Amino acid sequence: MTDEKKSAAVLALDFVKDGDIVGLGTGRAANAFVRALGERVRAGLSVRGVPTSQATAELARECSIPLSALDDVASIDVTIDGADEVDPQLNLIKGYGAALVREKIVAAASRRLVILVGPEKLVDVLGQRGRIPVEVIPFGAATCTRHFAAMGLDGALREENGNKVVTDNGNYIFDCSVRAIADPAALDRQLCCVPGVVGTGIFAGMADAVLVDEESGARVLRRAA
Ligand code: A5P
Repeated sequence: MTDEKKSAAVLALDFVKDGDIVGLGTGRAANAFVRALGERVRAGLSVRGVPTSQATAELARECSIPLSALDDVASIDVTIDGADEVDPQLNLIKGYGAALVREKIVAAASRRLVILVGPEKLVDVLGQRGRIPVEVIPFGAATCTRHFAAMGLDGALREENGNKVVTDNGNYIFDCSVRAIADPAALDRQLCCVPGVVGTGIFAGMADAVLVDEESGARVLRRAA
C-alpha cells in the first residue's frame, strides 16, 4: 500500500512509535484507528492506550490493546480521535458522540492530537453543521438552559429514544444551536463560565494534524506554527 492510498486510520499509525502511551478517541473514525492499532499490537508493537470512553475501552480490549487509566500515566505521547467539524486553523467541534469531556481531558494531556475525518467535516467556519455539544451537570440543566438562552443560544438537552442521553460521567448533553462562530475560543470560555457546565465541544488550538480521508488516500493538514 503506498502512502497515497492509506486510509486516515492507517496513516495515523505513522504518528505512533513503540513504547508510546496513546490516547484513544471515541466514534467511528477513532474506532477504525483502534482496530488498526490492535493489528499492530498483535504483530508486536508495544503501546498502552488511554481510552476516552467506556465504548472505546471495550473495543480496545477486544483488539488486544493494553490499557492504562489516565491517573496512571504521567503524560500521553499522542492521541488519535475524530471530530465533527474542522476549520482551516484546525479548530474543532467535537461531541456529537457525547464523549467530549473525556476527549478534551485526554487531548490536553497529550503531546500531540491527531484528528481523523472525512472531507464532509471540513468547514470554512465552525458552527456550519448547526450545533455545539455542551456537557452539563443534571442538577444545573434547567439553569444552564436559561443562561444559554440569555446568551442568545437556543438548543435542547440531547435525547435518544425519548430518554436524556447520559454521558460516561453521569451528565447530560445540551446541544446549543449555532451558526458561524466568529471566535471559537472566546465562546468556549464564555460557555465554561456558566455554573453547571462541565465542558464544551469546542477544541480551539488543540489539534496538531488532521488526516482527511479522500478517495485517493488520506491527506494531511498540519496546524500552522
Ligand atoms: C465523540 O464525542 C465525538 O467527539 C467524536 O469524536 C466525533 O463525534 C466524531 O465521531 P465520528 O468519527 O463517529 O464521526
